Amino acid sequence: MSRPDFNLRDGYKDRFVKRDDSIKEKLDHILRWILANKSKLESRVAAASSSPALGVDVVTWRGHLTKLLTTPYETREGWLLAATLFRGTLYLSEVETEASRRDTENRTERHQEMMYWGYKFEQYLCAEDMKASPDPGGVVNTNEAFCTVVQTKLADHKLLFSGEVDCRDRGPKSPAAPACYIELKTSAEICTPKQRSNFHRFKLLKWWAQSFLPGVPRIVAGFRDPDGLVVGTETIHISQISHLIKNEYNCWKPTVCMNFCCEFLSFVRTVVREDSPRVVHLFSWDPHQDVTYTVHRDSSYCFLPPWYVEGMAS
Ligand code: A3P
Ligand code: MG
Ligand code: MG
Repeated sequence: MSRPDFNLRDGYKDRFVKRDDSIKEKLDHILRWILANKSKLESRVAAASSSPALGVDVVTWRGHLTKLLTTPYETREGWLLAATLFRGTLYLSEVETEASRRDTENRTERHQEMMYWGYKFEQYLCAEDMKASPDPGGVVNTNEAFCTVVQTKLADHKLLFSGEVDCRDRGPKSPAAPACYIELKTSAEICTPKQRSNFHRFKLLKWWAQSFLPGVPRIVAGFRDPDGLVVGTETIHISQISHLIKNEYNCWKPTVCMNFCCEFLSFVRTVVREDSPRVVHLFSWDPHQDVTYTVHRDSSYCFLPPWYVEGMAS
């Protein structure tokens, strides 16, 4: 597929159903999944152990962990993470910053259209089921997503998180999940050494951080020209990214990312001691600053809903 000429602008005006991203779902989808799988999760925890009821230390979205992993190299956007300790497990849920809300409000028409391009690329490459072919004439609906739930360890932190997966390899010999999963990405066409260097320094950091934790092994990248035509595709193996960037001067390092994420989780553990769905510690970070926090009781920051708290007790 050297020059597929997919037109990413196609359908933006007339075949696009856009998710309303003013609706903040917080951790609700994951919490519903946990309740539905509660007995399975609890049965794996040794009866006599003093560990958390669910057998995991942290519950969150993959995207929140991606932000933590990339924090050491982030120079533009800060973040806010709400943390609640409940039955020995720490729940982390992002809160929109004032700056991010303003950015969303002030997006240019061009920027809004370009956000569609990534989804359109997915539609060119993905079929609805194993037997079908992709249908680029269909509607792009960003309300639909498939999410995987992953249990893994980052140093001594037992994590349970969920993340959206773009597609899977349907070959007859494709491995079990997550090894069959493929992340799809678009990026500007690379024409100069400077552009290649920037791609390695900034894009590959984000791409690595997104796929590394859930164990998604491959990215299929579509390189687009300024008119939204895909002029080339490339498969990038996550395990090869550290080799791809090794010639960049003063580049990012995966271990720095993992260490920051681990240390932040350990710090949150030491700070958040009160086990209660009514208490939220709000952790705040801005570029070139240290992490700080504030404590909120019975406030609008509470994010574990009554149906979850009650469901866990029964
Ligand atoms: P690209 O990443 O190819 O630009 P994801 O790749 O994470 O599955 O997301 C699919 C697409 O959603 C992205 O494709 C992009 O178009 C859009 N998107 C996701 N997160 C975004 C963000 N924070 N800002 C702008 N667009 C975003
Ligand atoms: Mg996706
Ligand atoms: Mg993608």
